[in-house]
Amino acid sequence: MAEHILTNYTPTVLSAYYEPFFGGGAVYFKLFQNLKITTGTKVVLNDLNRPLMETYVEIQLHPDSVFSELRQLADSWSEDNTGTFDRVRHEWNAGKQSAARHIFLRQSSFNGLWRENKSGQMNAPAGRYERLSLPSLERIKAVAGSLRHAEVRTGEWLKALPEEFVDGTFIFCDPPYLGGFSAYTGRKWSIEDLTSLVVEAKSMADRGATVVLTHAVNDDLLAILKAKWPRHRKEAYGMRRRINSDPTKRGKVPEWIITGEKT
Ligand SMILES: C[S@@+](CC[C@H](N)C(=O)[O-])C[C@H]1O[C@@H](n2cnc3c(N)ncnc32)[C@H](O)[C@@H]1O
Repeated sequence: MAEHILTNYTPTVLSAYYEPFFGGGAVYFKLFQNLKITTGTKVVLNDLNRPLMETYVEIQLHPDSVFSELRQLADSWSEDNTGTFDRVRHEWNAGKQSAARHIFLRQSSFNGLWRENKSGQMNAPAGRYERLSLPSLERIKAVAGSLRHAEVRTGEWLKALPEEFVDGTFIFCDPPYLGGFSAYTGRKWSIEDLTSLVVEAKSMADRGATVVLTHAVNDDLLAILKAKWPRHRKEAYGMRRRINSDPTKRGKVPEWIITGEKT
């Protein structure tokens, strides 16, 4: 999908890039690798997930110290898997939060699960692994390099969008699926949220930005588009995504790539 968006939807000259639902940033990192992002490109990357975005910021600023802390956690884990996991989770919940602890907990929890209780305490159990797959120093430095000129923000998607657009502005939106909970706020992503996003996407496309919205094929979205953005274009793109905790229900879920008519 990221490759497809790079090839088919990215403006030839990219002056500004906004990604309000950043997550793992597959599209941004693909654009960066393919030299679409240059020192002159304004970049705003946002997500509501605070631990994730704070991890990116720490990597952006201090890649070497993130790596050395991670190394220490990995060494301690090889001595005592569960004991280290429990200790780091306890430290995290006591307010000692860091990029290395975040990466470590994600990589060593059961199925890579990140779960928080109502009071925001991380409570995913430890996984059983022979070895951990932690990023190398090269990988961390590559991520830091890709983020060098980016504004990395935590917050609601709408606040991360520009009010004015320069030529060559690209806005890529990959929102949560309908009904999905944001693990960090417990807030559900609703039809009203999706409607506001479609309205905003249309308005930005009408004002000249290249707007790309990706979403699983869905009847509610179809109705919203019909009502709020009738003159959009959409392409169905087949992809595999784990959207269900029941493995028998995981499979090929076609996605829509929705844009304004100008792109
Ligand atoms: C489908 S994922 C994005 C995946 C991303 N494209 C990638 O390559 O990993 C949706 C993201 O939206 C974030 N999110 C959920 N509600 C949000 C909100 N109200 N404002 C901003 N981000 C939100 C989630 O934390 C999640 O990272």
